[in-house]
Amino acid sequence: MPITTCIFDAYGTLFDVSSAARAAAHEPGNDALAGCWAELAVDWRSKQLEYTWLRAVANAHDDFWQITQDGLDWAMEKHGLTGDNLRNRLMQLYAKLSAYPEVPQMLGSLKNAGYKLAILSNGEPKMLQSAMTSAGIRDLLDDCLSVENVGVYKPHARVYDMVGDRFGCANDEVLFVSSNGWDAGCATGYGFHTVWVNRLGNPVDRLPWKPHHTLSDLTSIPELVKTL
Ligand code: LAC
Repeated sequence: MPITTCIFDAYGTLFDVSSAARAAAHEPGNDALAGCWAELAVDWRSKQLEYTWLRAVANAHDDFWQITQDGLDWAMEKHGLTGDNLRNRLMQLYAKLSAYPEVPQMLGSLKNAGYKLAILSNGEPKMLQSAMTSAGIRDLLDDCLSVENVGVYKPHARVYDMVGDRFGCANDEVLFVSSNGWDAGCATGYGFHTVWVNRLGNPVDRLPWKPHHTLSDLTSIPELVKTL
């Protein structure tokens, strides 16, 4: 079946999640962050994801805005960072993340070619709307599907079910793109055609399913999708 629908993970795939800590580190008064912003961003991200999985398994859902604050609190404490001003500023920047530079052109080219385009994200709807607006990509997407509609995090199948429910497409008409190896792998297991955007050159996740394609950024997605 040719691909009709391209679905994108949001955080780390379209939106640069390290841009919040990087930007705050260069602001006056945030000297303590300057020496550790990159490590803080990694710890913040990994705790945030860990908490999504733990809450899904424990059946204790809370939204991604809360989980993002919880991950930040852990990471700030680990790096000896304190202060409500810094915490609030980092969360404010997280609500307005930048997109990776190739994103607008890649989405525009897919839209012109007639594909349905949407985000499928752990993000809570307000934070996703805010990031899409600040990244200037809102008008390029047909929809933005949030796990808040199903009350559980990726990679639960109920999350991936939202794509067929929304677009009425078969799983093998869907190209699912994620920078999270586990998300791309699990989406392969679900039945989507998948791309893992491996910007950091990480090893492939040892899961029962592998991404179908691995790219170093999003630039060649419009070319790839035509060949499928
Ligand atoms: C998301 C996280 C997993 O946007 O990056 O769903």
